[in-house]
Amino acid sequence: MSNPENHAGTRRDFLYYATAGTGAVVTGAAVWPLVNQMNASADVKAMSSIYVDVSGVETGTQLTVKWRGKPVFVRRRSQEEIDMARAVPLDELVDISAENANKPGAEATDENRTLDEAGEWLVMIGVCTHLGCVPIGNMSGDFGGWFCPCHGSHYDSAGRIRKGPAPRNLDIPVAQFTDDTTILLG
Ligand code: FES
Repeated sequence: MSNPENHAGTRRDFLYYATAGTGAVVTGAAVWPLVNQMNASADVKAMSSIYVDVSGVETGTQLTVKWRGKPVFVRRRSQEEIDMARAVPLDELVDISAENANKPGAEATDENRTLDEAGEWLVMIGVCTHLGCVPIGNMSGDFGGWFCPCHGSHYDSAGRIRKGPAPRNLDIPVAQFTDDTTILLG
């Protein structure tokens, strides 16, 4: 028959190891970008994830970070940008079922493309879906979002293609908030 004292001890040990294990995973993820820079193989590079500190991003501005060799736009949208994007009926869109790594198969509503429910944060791959230029932000173009000057593609404030030769909305990468001011990409 087991001793209740031993049983309690075993349970405490288990909790300790479980906690230590979680810590190890977090540490591993945090140093991953450094490993990536020191580099390693293309496979390792392709799997890399990075943490982005967004504490300094003011409303109505954008941070651009490099991730997996591409620019990623992290935009903190103003209420005006949110309202504009949410007022657009789906049948006015060129690309209704955008590539969204967080919600595969989702329709390209503004709510489905933003990272948070209020729609303040929009994270997108900053590469024009026509031939790969980097669009200009800061409410540019005819739809208050991004404009690609290479061949004249206009994206709205949700990064959806509205006019010009680009066939698809700007892609949404795998991303999530890990705390109030940190976004994990990948
Ligand atoms: S690459 Fe952007 S419009 Fe052609």
